[in-house]
Amino acid sequence: MPSHLFPRNFRKDYPQAVRGEGCWIFTEDGKRYLDAFGQAAVVSIGHGVASIGHAMARQAEQLSFAHTSQFSTPVAEKLAQRLLALAPAGMRNGGRVYFTSGGSEATETAIKLARQFHLERGQPERYRVVSRRQSYHGSTLGAMAVSGNVARRAPYQPLLSEWGHIASCFCARCELHLKFPDCMLACANELDLLLSSANWNSVAAFIFEPVVGATLGAAVPPEGYVQRLAEICREHDILLIADEVMTGLGRTGKKFAVENWNVTPDIITVGKGIASGYAALGAVIVGPRVVEAFAKGSGAFQHGFTYQAHPLSMAAGNAVLDVLEERNLFGRVPEASRDLFAALEPVKSHPHVGDVRGLGLLAGVEFVKDKASGMPFAREESICEKIRAAAMLNGVLTYPTQGCVDGLQGDHILLAPPFTISHDECQTIGHALASALKSVFGS
Ligand SMILES: Cc1ncc(COP(=O)(O)O)c(C=O)c1O
Repeated sequence: MPSHLFPRNFRKDYPQAVRGEGCWIFTEDGKRYLDAFGQAAVVSIGHGVASIGHAMARQAEQLSFAHTSQFSTPVAEKLAQRLLALAPAGMRNGGRVYFTSGGSEATETAIKLARQFHLERGQPERYRVVSRRQSYHGSTLGAMAVSGNVARRAPYQPLLSEWGHIASCFCARCELHLKFPDCMLACANELDLLLSSANWNSVAAFIFEPVVGATLGAAVPPEGYVQRLAEICREHDILLIADEVMTGLGRTGKKFAVENWNVTPDIITVGKGIASGYAALGAVIVGPRVVEAFAKGSGAFQHGFTYQAHPLSMAAGNAVLDVLEERNLFGRVPEASRDLFAALEPVKSHPHVGDVRGLGLLAGVEFVKDKASGMPFAREESICEKIRAAAMLNGVLTYPTQGCVDGLQGDHILLAPPFTISHDECQTIGHALASALKSVFGS
C-alpha cells in the first residue's frame, strides 16, 4: 500500500514495526531486530512493558486532559516530586519541574527561562544562549539556533539567530589541535575568553551536553572540563544549562550525567528516557536560584504549551520510574555497560574502526578510511549508513550519523540499548557489527 506519511527520507523504505518486547522490535513481515540503539537513546526499560499501558489507560479513564492554565493534577505533582528527588542535590530544595512533550520543547523552554531570568533580575541586555560547535539541542528554530552542527543548521541558516558558539570538547579529534592535559582545558576556556570580550554582557546562559550523543558519537569530556564550565558560568553570572535529553535518567550510569563530575547546573533539560518511549514527554528541571527569581519577580513565566504536563504522559513517566526503581534498572547500567564494551572489543582492531568510546549505555563506534592518520571517509560514501544497513540485515539496529570530524565528514554509529540488555544480547551486537564491517569492507 502506498504511504501517506510525509517521511524523513523519500528515498528510503521503512519496514512496518508492529510489536516490541524487551530489547526486540518485530516487523509486519515476521522479522525481529535487536534494538541496540534504544530507538535513539529513548527506550530504557525495554519495549512492551504492559504496566505502562495499563497506568496510561487508568489515567485516561479518570482524567485524560486538564489545561495547565487552570489546573494542576496529582499525577503531574507526583512525577515532578520524583524527578526532583533524582536530580543533583543542589537542585532538589526549592527546585521545580516544567513538563514538555519532548526534548526540543525542553530546549526552547530553557532558552526562554534563561532570558526571562535575567529580565526578572533587571538585566534586560542578557539574551544570548551560547553553545558549542558540533552540538545538537533539538529541531525547532530556537533549539537549532543553539545547535552548532553544521549540516543540520545549513538549510535554515537565514532563520537562525547567531548567539555564539565555542569549541566542542572532543579530545579524539580536538579542533584546537591540542592534547589533554597539556591543553589546560583550552576548549572550556574559550567560554571565558568569549564572555570576557567586549559586548558579551549580552549572554544569558550556556548550554551543553555533558556527553555528546548524536553529533559526536558519545564523546566523553576529560576530567575537569564540566567543572571548569560550571566555574566560568558562575564567575560571569550566567546560567549553566545541561542538555540531558539523551544522557539523563540513567543512561551514563548516573541518574544525570553531570553527576559524573559532581556539577550542579542551574537548569537540566530531559526527554527521551524519561518515559522510555511510552509517551511523548520531556522536562526542564529548574534549580532554586532560577525559581526564586520568577517567584519573587513577576511571578509568571511568559511561555506555555497546550500539552505540557499532559496527564497520560505523566502517568507514563511515573509508571516508567516505577519500573526503573523496582527492577533496579538504574543500577544495572554499569554492569550492562561492561558487557557492551567487552562485546565491542574485537571490532576495535578492525582497520576501519577509528575509535570505540562512550559512557554507561551510550557508545559510539567511529569509522575511518585510514586508522593511522584518522582520515575519514568521503561523506558521499555514506559509510555509516552502509554499516547500519548491513547490521540490520544481521538483525541488529544501530543509529548512524555523519559529521563527527567537522560537522560534515566523519562516520559513526551510536549504540544505546535498553538498560535490560543481557550479556548474550550484547554479544549479538558485537557479532552483528563485526559481520557488518566484513560485508561493507570485505574483511
Ligand atoms: C541532546 C539532545 N537534545 C535535544 C534533542 C531534541 O529532542 P526531541 O527530538 O525529543 O525534540 C535531542 C534529540 O535527539 C538530543 O539528542
